[in-house]
Amino acid sequence: MSAVNTLRLQPDAQGAARAGEILHAGGVVAIPTETVYGLAASALDENAVARVFAAKGRPSDNPLIVHISDLSQLSQLWESVPERALTLARAFWPGPLTMVLPKTPAVPACVSAGLSTVGVRMPAHPLALDVIRRAGVPLAAPSANASGRPSPTTAADVLQDMDGRIDAVLDGGPCAVGVESTVVDLTGEHPRILRPGAVTLEMIEEALGVTEVDEAVIRPLGSGERPRAPGMKYRHYAPKAPVTVFDGAPSRTAAHIAGLLQPGDGVLCFDDCKEWFSDIPNVLCYGPSWNIGEQGRRLFSALRAFDELPCTRILAQGCRPWGEGAAVRNRLHKSAGFNVVPLGLPVLGVTGRSGCGKSLLTRLAVEMGFDAIDADAVYAELLQNSADMRGALAARFPDEAGPDGIDRRALARRVFGDEAARQDLNAITHPFVLREIDARIAQAGTKGARAIVLDVPLLFESGLDRACTATCAVLSPEELSVGRIVERDGISPEQARARLRAQPGDDYYFSRCDVVLINDAPREDFLKKARFCLQKYGR
Ligand code: TXA
Ligand code: MG
Repeated sequence: MSAVNTLRLQPDAQGAARAGEILHAGGVVAIPTETVYGLAASALDENAVARVFAAKGRPSDNPLIVHISDLSQLSQLWESVPERALTLARAFWPGPLTMVLPKTPAVPACVSAGLSTVGVRMPAHPLALDVIRRAGVPLAAPSANASGRPSPTTAADVLQDMDGRIDAVLDGGPCAVGVESTVVDLTGEHPRILRPGAVTLEMIEEALGVTEVDEAVIRPLGSGERPRAPGMKYRHYAPKAPVTVFDGAPSRTAAHIAGLLQPGDGVLCFDDCKEWFSDIPNVLCYGPSWNIGEQGRRLFSALRAFDELPCTRILAQGCRPWGEGAAVRNRLHKSAGFNVVPLGLPVLGVTGRSGCGKSLLTRLAVEMGFDAIDADAVYAELLQNSADMRGALAARFPDEAGPDGIDRRALARRVFGDEAARQDLNAITHPFVLREIDARIAQAGTKGARAIVLDVPLLFESGLDRACTATCAVLSPEELSVGRIVERDGISPEQARARLRAQPGDDYYFSRCDVVLINDAPREDFLKKARFCLQKYGR
């Protein structure tokens, strides 16, 4: 293919107009979407589509997704529009969801790679929608990477693979989601997820009921097996150095990787686990261990960046599989060719404000066969038994350290309302508690426990969330909590309210935890939700 001059278009009306013109005339333009950059061409123009395949080096048996800006374009693309497609469109379009249904003859065979179906989505990026409108035709657009490389999430990534191979790139800045759309096949009895994305299995099930997940999402295919999404069979997202993924609680996988390191190794880790690898050169991070959204936005650029580093192999911390985590995990596992090493037991961290019903959940977990570790109890035991921790505390809080050891209540009173003192207390005690809990988790593993529930009021502040494979907050309306605290601790409602006000608000827990259980209904309803949660996150 002869080199062309690839135009850089700015994210304004002029840039969008130029992109629209080029596309209308049969050209190829990389455009931003909310997921990743797409390599767009008129979906109804075989020659333009052929140029997309050529620029990517894409195998011709891998079909393209068609992008629309208006529901009225569907009748041109699909034989018919079933009710459940409309249900999903109403719930998730514009957005990161592609639906696969039988195509009309108007869709060229090269777009669908000879299949009788075509995948369609309406992207949520305003520039993408604007360009589709201006082009005046639906746009076929695969991810704008060279075939086999990680998908591009910035215009610079696109140019790395495509400069000189396409007519233009419209620079819309970094993509908000960072992993490609969910692909769902609606041709069968039940919807079937062919590729996980930010529209999760749970979200599709809520809209349509029973939903299947294609095998190719979770394991490598055997020889002779054919995936329903042809793209899932190709080696993908892989840096040049081979990747091994370690799957488990972040502190567990970090410690394990640190123990394996050899010269020349690269490490892909979480921001908050970087300290384990401070003495090796090739470390890249892909977000905080609890923040799946950020991991999604950063994974592909990190995988790309490894090709600029001199590594012989890459050891990676695997992410949580919950919600959108299923999509991030799928891309990471694919980048490793499904070379995944599972480590350790499921550990469900339970947190939340006082009086919400955490201990109810913990008791239920024990009934269901979990081992329980209570961080408060560990702290109290260490106050009694750990001379080192007592010594460190006595040096900072001499007035609370009597001849018989540290008075726990006096210490709590001392730091209440004194932020600096509270931080000092935590800085002293958290490392001791962390070490002890890590040891107990390891011990439970050797004694044949099948899962652990870890009850920690300050789960994130202490860093103990990193010992967990999932995190759950139990919350309840304030007045219910006040009532429970008054009854349990014998303090006044005002004191209970003051205690609650000193703790983080609901948003804090919603933004960090894998699941939030609201304890507001009759006890039986809460227990039902709790049982479901324990079954799901305890495996
Ligand atoms: O988020 C996205 O979907 C991005 C942006 C640009 O919209 N596009 C994208 O396209 O990821 P691409 O071509 O890189 O991935 C399309 C995936 C492939 O795995 C392909 O096999 C599958 O969707 N696919 C497309 N049409 C299909 C069909 N008719 N039946 C089954 N799978 C299909
Ligand atoms: Mg792709």
